[in-house]
Amino acid sequence: MRDIAEPEALLVWYDRHARAMPWRVSPAARKAGVLPDPYRIWLSEVMLQQTTVAAVKSYFEAFTARWPTVRDLAAAPDVDVMAAWAGLGYYARARNLLKCARAVVADHGGVFPDSYSGLLTLPGVGPYTAAAIAAIAYDEPATVVDGNVERVMARLHDEHTPLPQAKPILTRHAEALTPAQRPGDYAQAVMDLGATICTPKRPACGLCPWRGACAAWDAGTQAELPKKAPK
Ligand code: ADE
Repeated sequence: MRDIAEPEALLVWYDRHARAMPWRVSPAARKAGVLPDPYRIWLSEVMLQQTTVAAVKSYFEAFTARWPTVRDLAAAPDVDVMAAWAGLGYYARARNLLKCARAVVADHGGVFPDSYSGLLTLPGVGPYTAAAIAAIAYDEPATVVDGNVERVMARLHDEHTPLPQAKPILTRHAEALTPAQRPGDYAQAVMDLGATICTPKRPACGLCPWRGACAAWDAGTQAELPKKAPK
């Protein structure tokens, strides 16, 4: 008999194995009521689109040292921000970054909206980024779905429908698992699980807190999932 995947089992794993990142608040500190600055979560999430955690760290430190608040960033000359971004690639992201910072100042008094729907109104902020900020910075039970989460859900449910067709199915699975307790830690935990255990190749199932609940583990299909439609 397979177990039911419990968010709590993943959170227990995350309490021990959360990766330290310069923008993160540790599980212990979050339990004590500390939440991260939405500006820092927004900046990290924009930088992490298409760039690895390892590459982002030093850029994040440099940006937040030079522009500690969204007001500082919004007031920065375009050329300075573009120059600081050099090396991260995808320069449209840097232009959108400034546009969004200036909208937060002009339209929201320099404070990021505190809900998923409010965040979605910001320029350059799509469903992924809005959910990540709402969950991580405000502990709203918003569901974060990135490539890591899609892979974890495809395996947990042994879902063989290929991507991108499978996206709405995997999103529904992810939504169904999102807990009301500690949604911010949970969002970060699923991404960490996908990045460190439930990896694209050779997943480390022996270390996985959800192995007993994983339909792909039962079927032996984990390494084939998620399926991708032929190009
Ligand atoms: N990749 C993008 N955002 C992330 C996060 N908040 N935690 C771990 N990996 C991520």
